[in-house]
Amino acid sequence: MKATIEARAKINITLDILSRRPDGYHEMRMIMTEAPLCDIISIDTQTGARDVISSNLSFLPSDGRNVALAAAHRFFESASIQSGGISINIHKRIPVAAGLAGGSSNAAAVLKALNEMYGNPLDREQLFAIAAEIGSDVPFCLLGGTAMAEGRGERLKPLPSLPDCKIVLCKPSLSFSTRAMFEKIDCSRIRNRPDTEGVLKALESGDLGGIARRLYNVFENFLPEGKRDILSIKTMMLDEGALGAVMSGSGPTVYGIFNNSDYAKRAYDKLRENYLTVFMN
Ligand code: C5P
Repeated sequence: MKATIEARAKINITLDILSRRPDGYHEMRMIMTEAPLCDIISIDTQTGARDVISSNLSFLPSDGRNVALAAAHRFFESASIQSGGISINIHKRIPVAAGLAGGSSNAAAVLKALNEMYGNPLDREQLFAIAAEIGSDVPFCLLGGTAMAEGRGERLKPLPSLPDCKIVLCKPSLSFSTRAMFEKIDCSRIRNRPDTEGVLKALESGDLGGIARRLYNVFENFLPEGKRDILSIKTMMLDEGALGAVMSGSGPTVYGIFNNSDYAKRAYDKLRENYLTVFMN
């Protein structure tokens, strides 16, 4: 069986870190939505050869350390299916280690596709349990849309979609490790937190301005090197008419929300003069 699927990136509308848990993870409260950016994944389940994963990025792991192949193995194991030699190819467009859940989106897309290809042997609960084992953002990527995520990210509540808008994403040439970013967090030093309730109300009423004004990520208060780049991208976006701009996830990608496509295009062009990795919808 063969399939070609899209794996959508995510962005954080809000990101709040409530506490550090005894297991080392952090209790989160985040509103996330799909970003207008995806990887393309081709799957062949019956190559008759050993399981392989490849991509257009040579530095990505090409074995079970790649979460997309790990997801396939967990699927076969849980569904008691013998792999016929799976081949997964990922055409990556989502920047890696960028706060956009690129790897998690790949794992979620593979899980969902395999379950459909094999006639849904796993129910929703089983799929989400595997997703949460693979990584904290994988359950959201499996759900898609717009949602509140709590716990490590596995407790999800679907929310109304982000109203129609233009989104410009820009990644400075830095890579932040999620683990290293969390290690910098001292929850007792978080003074400002997102207005999560305000964003929920604005989503309910489809108030794009009310959402964009409240974009907030507590990681921005604990930035390592690169703070200047992140602030300068935000300023460029706001100067060009963004309704709001914020870093996504553990960074360093920054995105801005626009209600005017000319403003979004101007911001895109200006950012392209300074940065290599810029996208817009
Ligand atoms: O779950 P995932 O593998 O994406 O997490 C990567 C790292 O980020 C974890 O090893 C952990 O150090 C940190 N993390 C955390 N709290 C979360 C999610 C991730 O501390 N809620």
